Amino acid sequence: MIIQPRTRGFICLTAHPDGALQAVKNQIEYVKSKGKIKNGPKKVLVIGASTGFGLSSRIAAAFGSDAATIGVFFEKPASEGKMGTAGWYNSAAFEKEAHAAGLCAKSINGDAFSDDIKKQTIDLIKKDLGQVDLVVYSLASPRRTHPKTGVAYASVLKPIGQPFTNKTVDFHTGVVSDITINPVENDEDIANTIAVMGGEDWKFWIEDLKAAGVLAEGVKTVAYSYIGPELTFPIYRNGTIGQAKNDLEATVPVLNELLKDLHGVSYVSVNKALVTQSSSAIPVVPLYISLLYKVMKAKGTHEGTIEQMQRLFADRLYTENGDVALDSEGRIRIDDWEMAEDVQAEVAKYWDKVTTETLAEISDIDGYRKEFFNLFGFELEGVDYEKDTDENVKVPSIE
Ligand code: NAI
Ligand code: NA
Repeated sequence: MIIQPRTRGFICLTAHPDGALQAVKNQIEYVKSKGKIKNGPKKVLVIGASTGFGLSSRIAAAFGSDAATIGVFFEKPASEGKMGTAGWYNSAAFEKEAHAAGLCAKSINGDAFSDDIKKQTIDLIKKDLGQVDLVVYSLASPRRTHPKTGVAYASVLKPIGQPFTNKTVDFHTGVVSDITINPVENDEDIANTIAVMGGEDWKFWIEDLKAAGVLAEGVKTVAYSYIGPELTFPIYRNGTIGQAKNDLEATVPVLNELLKDLHGVSYVSVNKALVTQSSSAIPVVPLYISLLYKVMKAKGTHEGTIEQMQRLFADRLYTENGDVALDSEGRIRIDDWEMAEDVQAEVAKYWDKVTTETLAEISDIDGYRKEFFNLFGFELEGVDYEKDTDENVKVPSIE
């Protein structure tokens, strides 16, 4: 079929398999251009491996360090004339390229929060890899069914305490307007968000993997967090999602204790704000990102998910002398270039000036839009979108 982008709000309902393949190839080429990661990971489990930071982690491990990878994700293949999801096509593309390069790559599609998917993953590790030496935890989800109690939690993106009013952009139309987001009405919204995006599931994974004996001596595990500028604090770091990130970060010492006898270590890496399916759903943040991109591109310090993950592996997690640089709170910071004083000062200056009229000139809204469509395999150079394409692409390792 001929596949065109079809959007509803910040969601794209369609995805293009050839475009996804091109996007994955572009990421692979970038990683190869940086050379091999010395002392890098060899057997890697990526939880949330199909899009965003998780996909880029998988590509950086495989093509930067010749790692065998198992990817876990929650995506849909095509069925009855409906196309598959972007993450499905990304994973099909990844496996195809990995296998062609002689790398072991297997995938599991299902709910990573469930005990069943954890067990399936453990069985697959036992069968194919024996043990893993790196576990990347990169889930982003609006809901989680608790595996022990069956309770279904939904996360919310709200401020805490008082309403938050700031500018936001509709990146399809370029209209900048004020938005007011009311605070949570009760603590339950906070607890629910922590239940979905906090550290409990990461802990469950590490506990189960350890109990099954599939974590190698010296194993590392990493999960991703965000801080960002003060102007997004009320909706992000001091909001409900920020409470979940605090909980995720507080899980690090718990996992370190758990991994002690294996001489294993856990980390949270604070990453840069980037266009992904998850971040486009947060109010205010896309406008910030479009100003940030403009400033960082002008300075030559802009990075996408693959540049971030390649740098995380090569310059933080797997350094030549084994040292891992941490901030005063014990976190890895690869948001360092985003948070640089000169960058933030310029973004703040543009933030005051940005309106519907000035948007095109002072922000990189075109870059934002293009990256958004790229996430779904659209608007990539070298792809013939007029050509009939097969939407029934399979992820080779999934029956
Ligand atoms: P994303 O939406 O691109 O990726 C989410 C991944 O989780 C996908 O592979 C999806 O299939 C998987 N997933 C979701 N629910 C699942 C389930 N129930 N079972 C199995 N897999 C499931 O998100 P993104 O942006 O890459 O986020 C990953 C992490 O990075 C999150 O913790 C996020 O908070 C963090 N982060 C994101 C930043 C951004 O600007 N996008 C900045 C800093 C951190
Ligand atoms: Na991800």
